[in-house]
Amino acid sequence: MGRLEGKSVLVTGASSGIGLASVARFAREGARVVGFDLNAPVADLDIPAGGPEVTFAEGDVRDEAAVAAVVDATVAEHGRIDAVVTAAGIAGGGPAHLVERDEWQRVLDVNLTGTFLCAKHAIARMLDQDLVDGERGSVVTVASVEGLEGTAGGSSYNASKGAVVILTKNLAIDYGRAGIRANAICPGFIETPLLEGVFGMPGMEDVRESIRREHKLRRLGRADEIAAVALFLISADASFVSGQAIAVDGGYTAGRDHGVTDMFGIPVVD
Ligand code: NAI
Repeated sequence: MGRLEGKSVLVTGASSGIGLASVARFAREGARVVGFDLNAPVADLDIPAGGPEVTFAEGDVRDEAAVAAVVDATVAEHGRIDAVVTAAGIAGGGPAHLVERDEWQRVLDVNLTGTFLCAKHAIARMLDQDLVDGERGSVVTVASVEGLEGTAGGSSYNASKGAVVILTKNLAIDYGRAGIRANAICPGFIETPLLEGVFGMPGMEDVRESIRREHKLRRLGRADEIAAVALFLISADASFVSGQAIAVDGGYTAGRDHGVTDMFGIPVVD
């Protein structure tokens, strides 16, 4: 029996990267999943034939009517909405004095307002449903390590992700008494089309290597490693976890390594 047997889950940003990996993992764990994305999925889903139902709806997380409609459709199809995972997001930013207001707004609209709208409409329906195993629902937002600390040139992206972290904590406070948990996942740098778009820019080879080394495991992450934590957070295993911003980052935010152990000649495998 899967860890999400019978649960109904809505995933945004479902057609690529972290969202797509989450849809596949949740379905393999027995969930009925509705994916929501601007675009159709970039790859076939890695789920067994005859497994639980997975459907996709195309739409924009900035469009409140479309978000409300896909939440309603999820409830209409599956009787309830047990969890929402908000993985829709875009990259962007630049040093503040060079960022046009429209570009600032574009990033905030998708990453922050889109997350707010999905949480808003999912929670509104969760509040109407009965408790199952003491819970009405679970909200998992996908923020970033860049919502926990600054990054050179991050500006709008970091601001949007920091705001998602605090929004998520507020959701946990406001709806905990109703049996709704809310947690943010803060991924490190994960090999997805979004990251490849950033690393694909000219001259990024050294930046990529520096970022790789900043992860104490000395590698970038995989989308399925984020999906695994999203699975935990929407499963019964996380029944007492709420209001947390969980870094899933290979040690990226653990602290700095200034090479002191190397300087003392202490052998550490690299
Ligand atoms: P991705 O680009 O592979 O997937 C993002 C998906 O969101 C795409 O399918 C895209 O069509 C969809 N999307 C974008 N704007 C949308 C909108 N307005 N409405 C509906 N769907 C929309 O990106 P990835 O890497 O999987 O990112 C997922 C989330 O994880 C994003 O919020 C991103 O900021 C966050 N994240 C990613 C990291 C990484 O290194 N890849 C690190 C930390 C956080």
